[in-house]
Amino acid sequence: TGLVTLDEGFVNTGSTRSAITFLDGEQGILRYRGYAIEDLAANCDFIEVAYLLMYGELPSADKLSVFRCGIRDHTMIHEDMRSFYNGFPRDAHPMAILSSVVGALSTFYQDSMDLNDPKQVEISMYRLLAKLPTIAAYSYKKSMGQPFMYPNNQLDYCENFLHMMFATPANEYCVDPDFAEALNLLLIVHADHEQNCSTSTVRMVGSSNANLFASISAGIGALWGPLHGGANEACVNMLEQIAADGGNVKKYVDMAKDKKNGFRLMGFGHRVYKNFDPRAKIIRTCCDKLLKKLNLDDPLFEVAQELQDVALKDDYFIERKLYPNVDFYSGVIYRAIGIPVQMFTVLFAIGRLPGWLAHWMEMHANPATRINRPRQICTGQQLREVIPVEKR
Ligand code: CMC
Repeated sequence: TGLVTLDEGFVNTGSTRSAITFLDGEQGILRYRGYAIEDLAANCDFIEVAYLLMYGELPSADKLSVFRCGIRDHTMIHEDMRSFYNGFPRDAHPMAILSSVVGALSTFYQDSMDLNDPKQVEISMYRLLAKLPTIAAYSYKKSMGQPFMYPNNQLDYCENFLHMMFATPANEYCVDPDFAEALNLLLIVHADHEQNCSTSTVRMVGSSNANLFASISAGIGALWGPLHGGANEACVNMLEQIAADGGNVKKYVDMAKDKKNGFRLMGFGHRVYKNFDPRAKIIRTCCDKLLKKLNLDDPLFEVAQELQDVALKDDYFIERKLYPNVDFYSGVIYRAIGIPVQMFTVLFAIGRLPGWLAHWMEMHANPATRINRPRQICTGQQLREVIPVEKR
């Protein structure tokens, strides 16, 4: 064990070289392939950004059109997969459904197992990008007891997702362009974040040469946790709890400062961003605009505003550099659009997918890649002898 350097939680361990994303936590900088996140958010749609992450350059108009069509070709899921949903309990968490159904894609597309066939790998990527919104929307329809809505390929990526979520055979759903725009923005800011827990999981599983669907399914599981992607859901649950408790924001801020109870303010703090989260800055503007337009009478939005104001002025949060992160605002926006809270992390997964794919490809293209296998410092028993069971 003398050679093992311990870094609990991998705070300072570089696991790979990567050309995909640049992060500067002190200065609040996030760039995908050299482009500032603010620039991408202002000028591109999610599919363009997905192409950028996966292939390294922004696409020409022709390449973009081929990419969009490639994805559209695969938006439906196999009819037999619909029967999976009958087996899940109605109150199943959609993240559990998402990871199971994505894992099961490898049972339907067995050619995808051949990692040495770049064409198959590419089709698997198109399938994932196309089917994730469909699988996700079906999990919502299942929870509502409503019929599944087939994708509508006339619509763009975000519009189509909203259509599959909210249309019924009896009622068309007229997509509000501001909702589609907000969703597009959220997917872009979530699209990659270098070696975070779920991306490292995708790389870890992929490093054993497991197939792409298995690797992405594992990443979805990692994202589900409340300290990672699950924070947006946990954040809105917390805001609801504060609102139901009379909106006493200060009580919860004090609770978060008291280490004995283990309570943390969800949507605050970040491992890397110590001054501000640039993603939060972008979507905060969108959040303000949407709330103003909708003029919703929801106490949760007031609580969110107050919590942010109180925590930002509190010495505990200032000293530890704890600011609202992307999940603080994303949950509020999703709620304003009418997306149920259990679906929040699913949307994070849809947004993060191109990042996972880009990292998976980069890892496999790197001849230096070896199976990921960290070491440990053993703190267990020294050598001892087995005492026969009758004498123990
Ligand atoms: N509320 C109260 N105290 C906090 C919080 C919080 N949200 N976050 C960190 N702290 C305290 C923590 O108790 C510790 O205090 P002390 O130094 O006195 O022991 C100090 O701040 C440093 O915390 P840490 O746990 O060492 O920080 P970390 O880098 O390991 O954890 C984090 C980062 C995001 C897991 C954490 O800030 C947290 O639990 N936040 C709430 C959950 C959340 O919003 N997660 C979403 C992250 S953004 C989406 C994503 O990229 O996944």
